[in-house]
Amino acid sequence: MATVSSTDRGQWSGRLGFIMAAAGSAIGLGNIWRFPYSAGEGGGGVFVLIYLAFVILIGVPLILAELAIGRKTERNPVGSFKALVPNTWWPVVGGLGVLTGFGILAFYSVVAGWTLGYLFKALTGGLAAAVDAEQSGLLFGELVGDPLWALLLTGVFLVLTVLIVRGGVSGGIERATKIMMPLLLLILIILAVRSITLPGGGEGLAYLFKPDFSKVNFGVVMGALGQALFSLSLGMGAMITYGSYFPKQENLWSSGATVAFFDTLIAILAGLIIFPALFFAKIDPSSGPGLVFVVLPTIFNSMPAGAFFGVAFYFLLAIAALTSTISLLEVVVCYFVDERGWSREKASWLLGGACFALAIPSALSQGAVGFLGANGMFTWDFLTLNNNIWGNYSLSIGAILICVFVGWKWGIKPALASLEEGGFSLPGAGLWAILIRVICPVAILIVLLFIIITGSYF
Ligand code: PHE
Repeated sequence: MATVSSTDRGQWSGRLGFIMAAAGSAIGLGNIWRFPYSAGEGGGGVFVLIYLAFVILIGVPLILAELAIGRKTERNPVGSFKALVPNTWWPVVGGLGVLTGFGILAFYSVVAGWTLGYLFKALTGGLAAAVDAEQSGLLFGELVGDPLWALLLTGVFLVLTVLIVRGGVSGGIERATKIMMPLLLLILIILAVRSITLPGGGEGLAYLFKPDFSKVNFGVVMGALGQALFSLSLGMGAMITYGSYFPKQENLWSSGATVAFFDTLIAILAGLIIFPALFFAKIDPSSGPGLVFVVLPTIFNSMPAGAFFGVAFYFLLAIAALTSTISLLEVVVCYFVDERGWSREKASWLLGGACFALAIPSALSQGAVGFLGANGMFTWDFLTLNNNIWGNYSLSIGAILICVFVGWKWGIKPALASLEEGGFSLPGAGLWAILIRVICPVAILIVLLFIIITGSYF
């Protein structure tokens, strides 16, 4: 059971509870939906390589930095900055994080709704029609292009999220993830084995792991950077919030590193499932946000007990998405509870409702309403536009600010003290300091500047 901290906010029941909850936040549609489709659009292997480099060079140092802030202050992102550097403008960084959480949730919940739609189809035998790429594409188009379905599924997903967030984090989130995450890992391994052994599997592996350097441009680099941050839930304070429930006597940095490891493992597994199957079913890797949803049914239809695996997979994917939407809404709710004195109940329902309103244009952008789609009002469809703005750019700006804050304002010494609390000294602490102070912020800044100069928005 959760122990109650001095501030009465609740805590994870221990190190494992935290790892499960934080991995629950990190692992989600970012790994299984966004990673394969971004990699497909970014040229395959070269995107994967840059993404992995960013996870190690920026993701790992930054997850430690965010957790250190949260554990020290035991507050939400805005309150954390207020507590550490009172009477400065720094809490604005936390405010940007709250806003970004809202922005991400407003398109993420739409895609999460699709997983429910596919779960429903899998349960009712509706996926059997997706015998080839064309049929599968039609099925996807029907589901996401129907305005009522799209809105209903988004709404249902947000209600589920609210129902858990209103109960507080340490109870609901922990319990759900402890059982579901290992099951998800297991089913992903089974699917990867099936996919790799499909005819054409080798081609898929080559596409995923053999970098073609002629495909690199700053748009691809930006996409890989955004993906590394998005997938690890970094740059907006989710890990500040989760670190704030971390027990004082446990090892924080090893828990953070473990989360980063599993998150990356799951993304690579998703790649091992999608790319071989994609060459088997002859689907274009750069076919956009529908990619995974179109590819997967063709795998289920080509394996024994495929109907069972389909149901199990979409169920677990929905849970994985739920543990991520919980963390997104939690950041926003936690701010209104801690800083504005709202009750958890009121904050959860009101903010969840507001998010639904914001999600409407994204939900309708996949065929239901023409001018919200690709080449309508914007080059991108509204969902993709939001995915880029909040998921790539906003997180990158947040990441720079958090690095500068920890490296130069709050200071490496107190941050390290928070990371090492409980007597666990951080190996390579000097390297971590250099990464946070110089390398991470400068690298991200260079990518952003080149994007602006070259105009190569992903
Ligand atoms: N990391 C989550 C995923 O990969 C998404 C997320 C981003 C959650 C930012 C919280 C904060 O699905």
